[in-house]
Amino acid sequence: MEQGASLALPRLCVLLTALLALCPCCSQGTWMWLGIASFGFPEKLGCANLPLSARQKDLCKKKPHLLSGIREGARLGIQECRNQFRHERWNCSVTAAASPSSPSPTSDLSVFGYEQSSGTKETAFIYAVMAAGLVHSLTRSCSAGNMTECSCDASLQNGGSPSEGWHWGGCSDDIQYGIGFSRRFLDGTSNNSTGKYRDALTTMNLHNSEAGRQAVAKLISVDCRCHGVSGSCAVKTCWRTMSSFEKIGSFLKDKYENSVHVLDKLKKKVRRKEKDQRKIPVHKEDLIYTHRSPNYCMRDQKLGVPGTHGRECNRTSDGPDGCNLLCCGRGYNTHVVRHVQRCECKFVWCCYVRCRRCESVTDVHTCK
Ligand SMILES: *[C@@H]1O[C@H](CO)[C@@H](O)[C@H](O)[C@H]1NC(C)=O
Ligand SMILES: *[C@@H]1O[C@H](CO)[C@@H](O)[C@H](O)[C@H]1NC(C)=O
Ligand SMILES: *[C@@H]1O[C@H](CO)[C@@H](O)[C@H](O)[C@H]1NC(C)=O
Ligand SMILES: *[C@@H]1O[C@H](CO)[C@@H](O)[C@H](O)[C@H]1NC(C)=O
Ligand SMILES: *[C@@H]1O[C@H](CO)[C@@H](O)[C@H](O)[C@H]1NC(C)=O
Repeated sequence: MEQGASLALPRLCVLLTALLALCPCCSQGTWMWLGIASFGFPEKLGCANLPLSARQKDLCKKKPHLLSGIREGARLGIQECRNQFRHERWNCSVTAAASPSSPSPTSDLSVFGYEQSSGTKETAFIYAVMAAGLVHSLTRSCSAGNMTECSCDASLQNGGSPSEGWHWGGCSDDIQYGIGFSRRFLDGTSNNSTGKYRDALTTMNLHNSEAGRQAVAKLISVDCRCHGVSGSCAVKTCWRTMSSFEKIGSFLKDKYENSVHVLDKLKKKVRRKEKDQRKIPVHKEDLIYTHRSPNYCMRDQKLGVPGTHGRECNRTSDGPDGCNLLCCGRGYNTHVVRHVQRCECKFVWCCYVRCRRCESVTDVHTCK
């Protein structure tokens, strides 16, 4: 499997590079390919052969040592998207084209398929979580001492509040470098992203990427360790630390649920679609979208929506994974699945373990 993937890789890259030449604005999200497991080792391909925009290739050539951090950021983002949406009708699956063993010129070349450019709430989440992944991964490299351009946050050294019994120490995460790099790497992908030709989707993507970065900044917290005689905690050493990426994903999922519908106009300033809500400002932490989502119930080959037929659902759940919601009211099939396990194991003197074979039966429900 791994072998097949690596053989097909050069073909995929040629294909992506050709696509970028044809359509420079498509380049906004192609870096996301770096996060696909079967993509192999981009370090070996060299910056010029990666699915990056011209500007990103320049950055990559100047700082090739960042490539593994960029790749890890993409991987984090994709993994967390799938984690947050695993129970939803749209489950953030990576498109069929994303298995590099079968790239075909007709297939959608986005990692997330249609949803990567549909202008929906799902597009918003994708851009936010991917930009956040990049910040998180680069910041971790900074703190690990793997980078020359950044390290722990030195501004906090020696500070703190000794009278209250604590001082800054250890390594505080400095997210400024990661945020700056994420902006330079993701936001300037074409001339059109700043010029007057900037379209609504670009505006939306830039806003949501920034919302992702803001989420990482907002969820920075403080960790402390106690010192003192037998754990008396007379003195505490504290440092600032990023939240786990799962927490950031969950925060962004909440932003997704409450995302703001904005006008699909070629304007730089985003405005709410709802007329009576125009006066409420759109905050930079909000996720915004321009197009309503399909309901993701039925297969739609044109849009590349797989539908929920065959998805496993939970008969007793009221949540999105419940059979009622997930199957869109179509009902479900029940299969009996047998598991055989070793059980009632006993230690027999001397020296082996004797077990029985136990069979358990569970019902598995799948959407009609
Ligand atoms: C730092 O570099 C080492 C050695 O190259 C690597 O094993 C480790 O995963 C890196 N850590 C981070 C957080 O990038
Ligand atoms: C952006 O536009 C300038 C001048 O219009 C051009 O020289 C440059 O190559 C363009 N950059 C990209 C990435 O298209
Ligand atoms: C920017 O995009 C618009 C419409 O998408 C296009 O007509 C224009 O030629 C593009 N400009 C540049 C410099 O790429
Ligand atoms: C996500 O949905 C697709 C299409 O319905 C399905 O094939 C896949 O198994 C689902 N993935 C998970 C983790 O449920
Ligand atoms: C199904 O949903 C119920 C209620 O939310 C939960 O307690 C149970 O663990 C779920 N079952 C599975 C297999 O996820």
